Amino acid sequence: MKNTVSTLLGQKQSGDKITMLTAYDYTTARIMDECGVNSILIGDSLGMVMLGYENTLPVTMDDMVHHTAAVSRGAENAFVVADMPFMSYQVSVEDAVINAGRLIKEGGANAVKLEGGAEVCAQIKAIVNASIPVVAHLGLTPQSVNVFGGFKVQGKSLGKAKKLIEDALLIQEAGACAVVLEGIPAQIAEIITKKLFIPTIGIGAGNGCDGQVLVYQDMLGLTTGHTPKFVKRFAEVGALMRQGISEYISETKSGAFPAAEHTYSVDENVVNELMEEC
Ligand code: KIV
Repeated sequence: MKNTVSTLLGQKQSGDKITMLTAYDYTTARIMDECGVNSILIGDSLGMVMLGYENTLPVTMDDMVHHTAAVSRGAENAFVVADMPFMSYQVSVEDAVINAGRLIKEGGANAVKLEGGAEVCAQIKAIVNASIPVVAHLGLTPQSVNVFGGFKVQGKSLGKAKKLIEDALLIQEAGACAVVLEGIPAQIAEIITKKLFIPTIGIGAGNGCDGQVLVYQDMLGLTTGHTPKFVKRFAEVGALMRQGISEYISETKSGAFPAAEHTYSVDENVVNELMEEC
């Protein structure tokens, strides 16, 4: 059964935790879908984990449409949410609706996600009015990395925590169907979750949210270097890949691969006749 906005809302009401993971390609999306994940996010984190940029800012609408279409083809049941990249919605409400429309029409997404609170409520309202569900994103919003001065936990002071709560109520009023809470103290995320009727999906926001989201390269052990505190590595796929690739290199060099079972052949008579002709 295809997960929808109503499925996620029902999960909040019944206390069934929402599972969301990022994906950026067909094969990964298909595996996640088969495992039964509720929602797949084509995050603009693709700029970092797929394209090798330092942050999410260089990601374009064309990048997002291309990867969203691949994921949508692999996601039969998961609710597909596509990120609106930096500068695709900040400049004008009209831009926001046109670009959200591309992610639905060309990318096959079921909803779009954009970052911000009060300052993007006009965009949220207009996109929802165009019949496109919107997931909001508050807290450590990576597109504001230059304003934050790095990827830092948000909402730690009383004033900042109050602003987060205010923003959460405003985006809900504007029509958002869910909100991602990223990099905020667990207690603040829990207060927001209790105040909202729409689901909260946390990443680095503790256990009190209605669901969780992780970047799949982080949770499957594919990323190297600094791992944020909130990431749990559920498997070491990177180590398995390194092992498989090293074995391929050494077997190809030694001639052990390809073996007879990986090789096509023709009748010996054909070979003999060919040899005679040569
Ligand atoms: O871009 C992304 O992957 C995200 C998640 C971290 C929520 O926005």
